[in-house]
Amino acid sequence: MKTALITGATSGIGREFAIQLAKRGYRLVVIGRRVERLEELKEAVDVPVEIIPMDLSKKKECFALLEQLKDENIDVFINNAGFGLAGSFIETDIKKKLA
Ligand SMILES: NC(=O)c1ccc[n+]([C@@H]2O[C@H](COP(=O)([O-])OP(=O)(O)OC[C@H]3O[C@@H](n4cnc5c(N)ncnc54)[C@H](OP(=O)(O)O)[C@@H]3O)[C@@H](O)[C@H]2O)c1
Repeated sequence: MKTALITGATSGIGREFAIQLAKRGYRLVVIGRRVERLEELKEAVDVPVEIIPMDLSKKKECFALLEQLKDENIDVFINNAGFGLAGSFIETDIKKKLA
């Protein structure tokens, strides 16, 4: 069985990638901070899902992830975690940018 690693699989495009890859028979390794959403995703698909709760903005956690996955054979990597705000820099919420 092929394996897909998806960062930011708790919502949006990442979650949809996860669902579509599961439909194509991929085993999923999914990453995000909101573990309850990853659990919901696991319930929603019919393939094995490995959940890795992780904050990828923290360097230490990224190195821990590397160690955890070093023996994994990853066939597809969707490096999707991130955030964006629509609008001009001046007008968008500074608190969201600093969060
Ligand atoms: N939507 C657009 O129009 C658009 C346009 C251009 C580019 N993008 C990019 O496409 C990607 C997905 O966008 P989206 O609209 O689907 O966004 P979204 O619904 O906000 O999803 C972002 C995902 O990234 C995860 N994430 C954010 N910060 C994280 C962190 N520090 N550690 C681990 N996971 C983190 C979130 O999970 P948790 O919060 O659970 O950690 C969530 O699963 C983002 O990188 C975004 O910048 C989006």
